[in-house]
Amino acid sequence: MKKTRIIMAALFALTGAAQAQDAGQINVICSVQAEWCNLMQTVYSRTTGVKVNMSLKGSGEALAQLIAERANPKTDVWFGGTGDPHLQAAEQDLTLEYKSASLPQLHAWAQQQATQSKFRTVGIYSGPLGFGYNPELLAKKKLPVPKTWSDLLKPEYKGEIQVANPASSGTAYTMVATLVQLMGEDKAFDYMKKLHRNISQYTRSGTAPIKAVARGETSVSISFVHDGPGEKMQGFPVETITPSDGTGAEIGSMSLIKGARNLEAAKKFYEWALTASAQEMGAAAKQFQLPSNKSAKVDPRVPDFKKIKFIDYDYAKYGSSAERRRLIGRWEKDVNSLPR
Ligand code: G6P
Repeated sequence: MKKTRIIMAALFALTGAAQAQDAGQINVICSVQAEWCNLMQTVYSRTTGVKVNMSLKGSGEALAQLIAERANPKTDVWFGGTGDPHLQAAEQDLTLEYKSASLPQLHAWAQQQATQSKFRTVGIYSGPLGFGYNPELLAKKKLPVPKTWSDLLKPEYKGEIQVANPASSGTAYTMVATLVQLMGEDKAFDYMKKLHRNISQYTRSGTAPIKAVARGETSVSISFVHDGPGEKMQGFPVETITPSDGTGAEIGSMSLIKGARNLEAAKKFYEWALTASAQEMGAAAKQFQLPSNKSAKVDPRVPDFKKIKFIDYDYAKYGSSAERRRLIGRWEKDVNSLPR
């Protein structure tokens, strides 16, 4: 019912958009989870007649594709995924400067993402990094719930923790950048080397670890905590917690691609994606980030930011190409190459 209401509201947000069939097409890289991508694709196509070709890619992979396509771009809009690679795309001149008239309707952090990139990207949601855990599996193995980053280093968690690979996943890059800011770089790398012993697998996608936790394949994950409730709603035993010693947050972003073949249609999709009703589709698709449009309804399952201890995340620094390349390179060399 709720989903239907949200879809109806989104339809009203599209008034003025032609119902005509074959009203062109757009190519979108979508870096949130499939259900949200598919819901947007269906609603937007049905209401505007514009065909939406969606390609699902993690944040790091999306950036790699845009770099590879630079001479001959095949993408018009990049929707979602962590903000750092969107800032790198802006810096590398892969995305287009575009100042939406809706910017004042967005939270300050989303507008800051736009000004920081000289209007080449914009914030569409935000969400905190933390841990996912399977309470049943922890109880069975007599393991405590980890509460701090240092708890994850305890030998009893050996082989019990999953996190994604920071080269392909924005979630995992957010972890690397968060730890570096929290501990200082050398200490953060010492920490990640020790953590490596307890990791059973580095996954390609940022959401795979919490899905593995939910399904009882591993006890603990390092994940965005807004990815927990959607798994729980499917009946899986999964809870989340944010480390009491501090954590980072993503500013999920959206960008228009430089050289887009369907630019006018892409701009319309972009404007629609900034509306409150379009943003409410995230929760309708069981994804619980905080929407960037101040008028969007905030589902009670969205993490309460006021209760979380956040670091003062430096989005400009950790969104720079040189810094990301350097940190991922160091992670590959110092951490991922070590035996477990
Ligand atoms: C999930 C989260 C998003 C996040 C994205 C990053 O979809 O719900 O908030 O932006 O993962 O994906 P990645 O695979 O790049 O870590």
